[in-house]
Amino acid sequence: MGWDAAELPDAHGRTIVITGANAGVGYFTAEQLARAGAHVVLGCRDPERAEAAVSAIRRRVRGASVEAMPLDVTDRRSIDAAADALLGRDRVDALVLNAGIVHPPRERRTDDEGNELVLSTNVLGHFRLVARALPALERTDGARIVTLGSLASRLGRLRLDDLQLERGYTSWRAYSGSKIAAQVFGFELDRRLRAAGSGVQSVVVHPGYSTSGRTPGIRGVNHPSRLKRFADNLQAAWTQGKDDGAHVPVRAVLDASIPGGSYLGPALWTKGAPTLTPATRATRSPRQGARLWPLLEQASAQPFPLP
Ligand SMILES: NC(=O)c1ccc[n+]([C@@H]2O[C@H](COP(=O)([O-])OP(=O)(O)OC[C@H]3O[C@@H](n4cnc5c(N)ncnc54)[C@H](OP(=O)(O)O)[C@@H]3O)[C@@H](O)[C@H]2O)c1
Repeated sequence: MGWDAAELPDAHGRTIVITGANAGVGYFTAEQLARAGAHVVLGCRDPERAEAAVSAIRRRVRGASVEAMPLDVTDRRSIDAAADALLGRDRVDALVLNAGIVHPPRERRTDDEGNELVLSTNVLGHFRLVARALPALERTDGARIVTLGSLASRLGRLRLDDLQLERGYTSWRAYSGSKIAAQVFGFELDRRLRAAGSGVQSVVVHPGYSTSGRTPGIRGVNHPSRLKRFADNLQAAWTQGKDDGAHVPVRAVLDASIPGGSYLGPALWTKGAPTLTPATRATRSPRQGARLWPLLEQASAQPFPLP
């Protein structure tokens, strides 16, 4: 199946919400979708960074339809307010679950509820947001939820007996575990949506290995140091910019031929054009999904409205 990231289908009339959209892959996902004509909503925790991203999109995309929505995915009140705002909209065509900690702290940290911070940011907040905002997607024809997974899902394992890493926290375990959990969630969500006869689809993606030093400089959004540019360019053979990484979630949102339950990533694993790609058996496992789901409900204090 071919896909030309430079020739996107027209997305006028669609509303697409992206979490963590003031920087990185999330910013470029928003910018590219705005260029395709969608109304994009940038869910961001910092008002100044949000405004800088909104201004950048308006500067770079003529006639862009874009707004910021306050959202800190580690803060339940913020998540619930964002979900309420989405429920008040006529339509939500896609929700891109992108916000994430990609460089976890060395020492284990927790959010205000006592949940491990990387799991909270990369999985629990999104679980609660989707659970609460689902009706807004349900009433929009062809709506999609796109979850950002990672190649790191191939290199770690999910500790269902110690999801919060209370024993043996390392930053790598926190990151890989959170991304495995995100993928298990995304695939399990699609199974549950299908079983419930929902029209909403859940697609899981990974953006390969996308670095800021290989990404265009944009005021208020991306300004890596010269040293960072130099170091990232040394890895150019197997990396790409975050603008290229964004081609994957953008395709997951706009390509109607991609069915729910798909996994997309760059054609050359770490870089390249967005394409269907195999996910690990562990993250696709219905058994893992069924075991993880109640743990997510419990940790996010949010029953999910699908059996
Ligand atoms: N880059 C890669 O190679 C790669 C590979 C695999 C997967 N991914 C996944 O792709 C996604 C984006 O990665 P990236 O490389 O673009 O990361 P990034 O440049 O560090 O951007 C992360 C974004 O998430 C936001 N964020 C972090 N914590 C948040 C919170 N509590 N509430 C709301 N927003 C929050 C950040 O906002 P602030 O500016 O406020 O911090 C920022 O906008 C992540 O889920 C990551 O795991 C990336």
